Amino acid sequence: MAESLEGKVAVVTGAGSGIGRAIAEALRDAGARVVVNGRSEKKLATYAPGDDLVTVAADIALPDTAENLLATAKDKFGGCDIFVNNAGLFASGGIDEIDIDAMCAMVRVNVEAAFRAAYVFARHLRAQGTGHLITTSSILGTKVRPIASAYAGTKYAVEAMTEGLRMELADTDVKVSCFQPGLVMTDLHNHMDVHPKEASGMDTPLTPKDVAECVMFMLTSPPNVFIPRMMIVPKETAI
Ligand SMILES: NC(=O)c1ccc[n+]([C@@H]2O[C@H](COP(=O)([O-])OP(=O)(O)OC[C@H]3O[C@@H](n4cnc5c(N)ncnc54)[C@H](OP(=O)(O)O)[C@@H]3O)[C@@H](O)[C@H]2O)c1
Repeated sequence: MAESLEGKVAVVTGAGSGIGRAIAEALRDAGARVVVNGRSEKKLATYAPGDDLVTVAADIALPDTAENLLATAKDKFGGCDIFVNNAGLFASGGIDEIDIDAMCAMVRVNVEAAFRAAYVFARHLRAQGTGHLITTSSILGTKVRPIASAYAGTKYAVEAMTEGLRMELADTDVKVSCFQPGLVMTDLHNHMDVHPKEASGMDTPLTPKDVAECVMFMLTSPPNVFIPRMMIVPKETAI
């Protein structure tokens, strides 16, 4: 039987828009209390207010943010059961085109900040003995494509991190997992001259809600059932 998330406490990074937002809304709908993080206060202000939600506008790449998110969850809701390690950026381009500064900024968020946050929450969950740490990887965490080597590298890194933490916590009731979306229609690619939907000729990419439904399946699996990783792609993806 699916586990109830009623009363559980979750922290979701990168929840101002897109996948993180859809997961935060789904957690809320399932009765969880949620701390949502993003950089833009304006985006976070569009959540419906309620006793079950706290917004924290902060750059996850700053050294204190993950600790502050955990402290907020403990202070406002008495603990933290689920950490959705989702904030991310996308910088791509060929050797001559890629903006190297943007690429390095992406590495700081997708790798450094994701690792820092994962370890902060892993320590908390291990001490608690239960919980779920789930990280947003990508289909590019399993396959490198030309012009996206740096992004793929960041997602390969979180795949390795997830696997290592999973093995370290295997003898506890803490679940450590990740999911690997294919193309999802979010703000992630808005800065690109040619959107990947156009470039790929794909008709029906995923929606954030499609992904959130799959993630909720992972988060509500019974205690004896564990899905270490889930790939979620548009049906028309040739994989
Ligand atoms: N869309 C896809 O096709 C796809 C596919 C595979 C994996 N993913 C992954 O899914 C995750 C979510 O992306 P998305 O597609 O939902 O894009 P999105 O709508 O642009 O969401 C990304 C979120 O991350 C936040 N963020 C970025 N840098 C941050 C920072 N330094 N500190 C705090 N928050 C930060 C953004 O907040 P602000 O706007 O407030 O900065 C935004 O809310 C990323 O890890 C991405 O790599 C996406």
